[in-house]
Amino acid sequence: MAEDFSKKMAKKGKFITFEGGEGSGKSTHIERLVTHLRQEGYHVLIAREPGGTEVGEQIRNILQYSKQSAAMVPETELLLFCASRAQLVRQVIQPALNDGTIVICDRFLDSTTVYQGVGRKVDPQAVAAINHFAVGAYRPDLTLVIDLDPRIGLERVRGRELFDRMENQALEFYDRVRQGYLDLAKRENRRVKVIDGGQTIERIAEQIWSLVKGVL
Ligand code: TMP
Repeated sequence: MAEDFSKKMAKKGKFITFEGGEGSGKSTHIERLVTHLRQEGYHVLIAREPGGTEVGEQIRNILQYSKQSAAMVPETELLLFCASRAQLVRQVIQPALNDGTIVICDRFLDSTTVYQGVGRKVDPQAVAAINHFAVGAYRPDLTLVIDLDPRIGLERVRGRELFDRMENQALEFYDRVRQGYLDLAKRENRRVKVIDGGQTIERIAEQIWSLVKGVL
């Protein structure tokens, strides 16, 4: 039985994650939040998933940009996302939190719960077990889900040049993902907060700031 990694965390910093469908505006709001936090004098580190470490960036290439990956089965996909996370959490997130840094992560284990468990319909118990193997019982202090109709989000990302396997699914897949996040937020309503991504950037940023202030 693998040791529960999360038991070793002597966490002093705060861990905030952003979630949402394609084109929901996560990157814009992460940038704004980080700028705001730094202006207030906080030490902040940004990470992204999949990736965020040298090992993880290679996994990201296989998962998203390699044309040879078109035949990847959902089980392989699940393990690769979790492999990238296992590396990120030990190499980057844990040391930063132990130093008292605020870590902002663009996606974390909720993406696996929702994309692989709900989107790909992999057995949710298997997804939870593998997530647990990768990061233990450890969870973010706050998870912000930017909720947006995938029809609007996909329109925003389709202009990008890079071929992205994860952005090439049928619309039903993204509808399931959206619902998966809303259901997760109901189940874990203390940690997971939903923000209406159809509002103006200013309004969304204000809501994010007020939720973040609540955990600092
Ligand atoms: P992004 O970098 O634009 O957020 O894209 C990451 C893609 O990978 C997005 O389609 C969500 C997907 N993904 C999963 O399916 N499972 C995961 O565990 C993670 C972290 C991402």
